[in-house]
Amino acid sequence: MAIEIAQLRKSFGRNEVLKGIDIAVEDKELIALLGPSGSGKTTLLRIIAGLDWPDSGRLEVDGTAWLSIAARDRRIGFVFQHYALFPHMSVRDNIAFGMTVRPRAERPGKAVIARKVSELLQFLQIPHLADRLPGQLSGGQRQRVALGRALAIDPRVLLLDEPFGALDAAVRRDLRSWLRSVHDASETTTIFVTHDQDEAFELADRVVIMGEGRIEQIGTADQIHDHPASPFVARFMGATIELPVRIAAGRATAPGIDAARLERRALPDGAATLFVRPADLTPVPDPAGLWRVKQVTSTGAVLRPVLTGPEGQEIAVEILRRTAPGLLAGQSVTLRVETGTIFTETPPGQRGQAGQSSEIKEIPLKEKQK
Ligand SMILES: Nc1ncnc2c1ncn2[C@@H]1O[C@H](COP(=O)(O)OP(=O)(O)OP(=O)(O)O)[C@@H](O)[C@H]1O
Ligand SMILES: [Mg+2]
Repeated sequence: MAIEIAQLRKSFGRNEVLKGIDIAVEDKELIALLGPSGSGKTTLLRIIAGLDWPDSGRLEVDGTAWLSIAARDRRIGFVFQHYALFPHMSVRDNIAFGMTVRPRAERPGKAVIARKVSELLQFLQIPHLADRLPGQLSGGQRQRVALGRALAIDPRVLLLDEPFGALDAAVRRDLRSWLRSVHDASETTTIFVTHDQDEAFELADRVVIMGEGRIEQIGTADQIHDHPASPFVARFMGATIELPVRIAAGRATAPGIDAARLERRALPDGAATLFVRPADLTPVPDPAGLWRVKQVTSTGAVLRPVLTGPEGQEIAVEILRRTAPGLLAGQSVTLRVETGTIFTETPPGQRGQAGQSSEIKEIPLKEKQK
């Protein structure tokens, strides 16, 4: 099922938590919704599920307006952020639940329900747990049951709100690849919410980055990693170092910085900010360098030199210890930028967002010349 969301807005009291959301999810696509706490992910999912209503905007599924359809008629499988299985029901009954509460006319017969549950137990690789109560399961097993319960109604759309939130990293990794195969085999359209970047990028066809009720960027892992669309996305993707630079003829320069490896960009001359990941800055020993090594700590594989700049600013970078030159405290270095993204300042208010003056202004040269 293709899901089309246009200009969706939602406020709780005076707090606008969805500020005009536009997303088009393709049929059978697996989309990850990634964003900080409070950015509106759960609210968006609840609206798609029919558990909440927007103030305005459009929601269509396969071309049909969905906001007027009741939640139980939308055939949506939902796994909540804080999963709740019915504690007094066996795994088998938990999975069957959605089928048994359908209106009498649509309710499958007992034998059909039993067959469907066995199939799902096989599919989820938990037939041996059928008669246990939720309290007798591990966290990962409970997540599988919660997913089984969501899949039992043959959902047309599967909405998963941090389904692996409470689990440790190793179990999450297992469930991740397993979920991808479940999605592929069940032919649903899936929207998956997570805080975890690796999870989002590994699992999803496309990732939607949300920040404070807005969509900041939609794209594949590589697109978002290489070309963050806004300072927010750049920071969120780990470019935590911000260096002031001057742009002249599409080239960035700053004292003590070697930015020759950055692509030339169609940027207006003047002040700008370079966003870089700590691992994308290499301190190169240089007697005339304007940066100084303050200290170097090691985690074994990675060195974390702390550097002081010509204006007293302090940054921590990361280099592989194996490839690093013997950096010593007190040494002078030039900072070589391997890759990064430049944003120029736009006049405040241009995007109607108070307090946020620095906005996207990066256009690759090729596109500009078209
Ligand atoms: N029922 C409600 N009444 C009032 N405010 C609400 C309600 N539900 C959510 N909010 C507010 O809406 C904003 C978005 O909440 P939401 O739960 O959608 O965020 P989220 O992105 O899912 O966050 P998290 O990652 O922590 O789950 C928050 O500021 C939250 O306090
Ligand atoms: Mg949430």
